[in-house]
Amino acid sequence: MTQKRIIVLTGAGVSAESGISTFRDSGGLWEKFDVSEVATPQAWAKNQALVLEFYNQRRKQLYEVEPNKAHYALVALEEKYDVHIITQNIDDLHERAGSKNVMHLHGELKKVRSSVDENLVYDLDGWELKKGETCEKGSQLRPHIVWFGEAVPMIPFAAELCATADIFLIIGTSLNVYPAAGLVAYRPPRCMVYLIDPADVAISHIPGIKIIRQKAGKGTSDLVKELLNNA
Ligand code: OAD
Repeated sequence: MTQKRIIVLTGAGVSAESGISTFRDSGGLWEKFDVSEVATPQAWAKNQALVLEFYNQRRKQLYEVEPNKAHYALVALEEKYDVHIITQNIDDLHERAGSKNVMHLHGELKKVRSSVDENLVYDLDGWELKKGETCEKGSQLRPHIVWFGEAVPMIPFAAELCATADIFLIIGTSLNVYPAAGLVAYRPPRCMVYLIDPADVAISHIPGIKIIRQKAGKGTSDLVKELLNNA
């Protein structure tokens, strides 16, 4: 029997219980930092040192945290479903938990890339990317992050995947950032959609969605148990 396919769209909230800050909650990263000063091509042009330091701190923190119950519950879901995770997160906690299929929409913190050729991507050793570290073409290496104002190269692949969903699960995202927030629109008709988030996320564009107003750890574990029982 072929397994049903579950597409999971995750955001910063899935990693919150691991100790990684979200962006737009009170106390979130975009309250402490001006997004235009650290996460745009203009910021990179203006002050490379500041941008490098911002992402170095994020990367350093990533080495100090672990996946949480929500990440592990999504791994358990693979026992009976064909699970594909599309994450907006730049951490590697889904991979470290053991999820097999993970697509990163907004890049990956542990990778760096050439600032003149986006196809030259490298794994970074350790947490610190320094000024003066260059790609094979001699240009400064930059964080492998999709900044605001840049294209999201994975979107066509993600949209294609969403069109194959039997069940769509959204976890821990404010759905503020497009095109990621619009991916759910590619689901087939009759695909069941769940949202797990403790806050009141704007989801009026997703009719029939089942809302689970809980933190990711508990909400995901409970839903995964239910889905495994129903499989
Ligand atoms: P946001 O910070 O916008 O939203 C985080 C969501 O997580 C909110 O809806 C919170 O209610 C929810 N949340 C908080 N704690 C939670 C918990 N314990 N369990 C479950 N949910 C929880 O983050 P994203 O929607 O991921 O992009 O932001 C999208 C993009 O904007 C990011 O990928 C990043 C950011 O700017 C770039 O930097 C390119």
